[in-house]
Amino acid sequence: MTGTAEQPSGKGTAEVTLDEVVSLCKRRGFVFQSSEIYGGLASTYDYGHYGVLLKNNVKGEWWRAVLQERDDMVALDAAILMHPRTWEASGHLEGFTDPMIDCRTCKLRFRADKLEDAQCGRKPSVHPGEYDECDLTEPRQFNLMFETFMGPVRDDAARVFLRPETAQGIFVNFKNVLQFARKKPPFGIAQIGKAFRNEITPGNFIFRTREFEMMEIEYFVPPDQADDWHRRWMEDRMRWHTDLGIRPDHLQLRKHGPDELSHYSSATSDVEYLFPMGWSELEGIANRGDYDLSRHAEFSGEKLEYFDQEKGEAYVPYVIEPSLGVDRSLLAFMVDAYDTEEVEGRKRTVLRLHPRLAPVKAAVLPLVSKAGMPEKAREIYEEVRRAVPAEYDEGGSIGRRYRRQDEIGTPWGITVDGQTLEDGTVTLRDRDSLEQVRVPADGLADRLAARLAEPWRSPKLG
Ligand code: GAP
Repeated sequence: MTGTAEQPSGKGTAEVTLDEVVSLCKRRGFVFQSSEIYGGLASTYDYGHYGVLLKNNVKGEWWRAVLQERDDMVALDAAILMHPRTWEASGHLEGFTDPMIDCRTCKLRFRADKLEDAQCGRKPSVHPGEYDECDLTEPRQFNLMFETFMGPVRDDAARVFLRPETAQGIFVNFKNVLQFARKKPPFGIAQIGKAFRNEITPGNFIFRTREFEMMEIEYFVPPDQADDWHRRWMEDRMRWHTDLGIRPDHLQLRKHGPDELSHYSSATSDVEYLFPMGWSELEGIANRGDYDLSRHAEFSGEKLEYFDQEKGEAYVPYVIEPSLGVDRSLLAFMVDAYDTEEVEGRKRTVLRLHPRLAPVKAAVLPLVSKAGMPEKAREIYEEVRRAVPAEYDEGGSIGRRYRRQDEIGTPWGITVDGQTLEDGTVTLRDRDSLEQVRVPADGLADRLAARLAEPWRSPKLG
């Protein structure tokens, strides 16, 4: 038996602003300003309950795709603090810089290569119409690495850095992994972890922050296969985003020009997403050549190469590096999923997240808070949460409870009503179509778990 208790107007809004997403994150406790009671720390954020669950799901889907579903990858979790020589060898001490300029008039600081974005001197909110041009200093190179000291003495010998990328933890472990993983190139090492960058101009919410999480792969290949693997990783990574619901027309690959390449890269393409502020880097996919292994071999005196038994020769593998920020990926998923529509004259905000990404998969709701319904609903909830992350909610009108679940992207609502007590059936509400189907409560948990494994297509694609 099917029915549609709520009637959508049929059309969602086309695009979303960053403010709308920020406001939803705050309203539903996905993300908080860090140290808010002290006025907040600029561009630093804390994740609340649903934010943690969503972030874990993003990371889980990444691990699934790059590790569980492949034979050629192993995992690593390296320390944030590394021997300071690491950053000399990697070139970060010398080359991980952004050109910085100051405006002598307004005292604001900008990245010289992103001046158009800042519109210094022409933006009324920065300079409220007092003058037309800005008095800028010459660009100076500013190193983005955070430094701190190990132990009680704060001198140069004790200086260490908070890693600006997780990649170097992988390179310095190349020998260890090779010894224990029984792999030969082509093979990869994957890791998720925090990274820190003293960005000159962080901003756009969690898009660019000074502390963030990275999901990185260093994929080691014979040098003559590097171009081919670079292409394959670009295809694989594009597919990951779209399989998880990102609309293909909001995703593009853009090849870096020679002046944009990082100091270690011989070729990089960015996966770009159409964020509310325009096309911006979501993930970088670089061909790092043999730069890192060769440099660490030179600086450490260790041989970092692979001995090919068949050919009887050793070589330094080339590296293909797909590198994605967890927070930036989460933002892209939220922006892409955000939708509003009118349902029976009222605005409904809904996160049309891929069910596997949704923080909560099912909400169990007694229609009213009496007549044995809460007890029955609780019983069903305890059964459902065995199989999928679920929530029980009996507070407020059923409409309000549905809206709350819509806003956090819960794909299925299970409503317990009078009929449930008579025949053991519940209504199963679909977040996207709003269709309600009457189904037996028995076995529902396993059926929902099975549905999570099915391919999914964003309803925003029509
Ligand atoms: N190891 C390669 C590397 O560090 P990157 O392009 O500088 O490359 C990789 O960073 C990814 O990390 C970016 O595509 C982005 O998703 C994320 N990322 C970089 N800087 C970030 C920041 N300040 N805040 C949030 N995410 C950032």
